[in-house]
Amino acid sequence: MSREVPVATVDELAPGQRKLAFVDGRSIVLFNVAGSVHAIDNSCPHNGASLASGQLEGCLLRCPAHGLRFDLRTGCMPGAGGLSVKTFPVRTVDDKLVVILEDAATDLA
Ligand code: FES
Repeated sequence: MSREVPVATVDELAPGQRKLAFVDGRSIVLFNVAGSVHAIDNSCPHNGASLASGQLEGCLLRCPAHGLRFDLRTGCMPGAGGLSVKTFPVRTVDDKLVVILEDAATDLA
């Protein structure tokens, strides 16, 4: 079962902007890359650093702690294998951006 949680207005997140949102005790960071909005868990899978201030090169986000890079579209590191950061689907409902979260019971399935 999934839920849609509003996290920002469309106006808040213009291209090139990013925003941190807190949902159910979880920190999620949203990025608008050239008009496409991506949402990821704000915790690097390597050692838990916040990814919100990471440097972006297109859709590749560099973790500020040790420099691992993750593709915002997939959560994966470029190339084969490696760690991956959790991504969340985002959609626009009226003037709001909503993140789609799976309930914990579904995560375990
Ligand atoms: S904590 Fe992100 S690369 Fe180490």
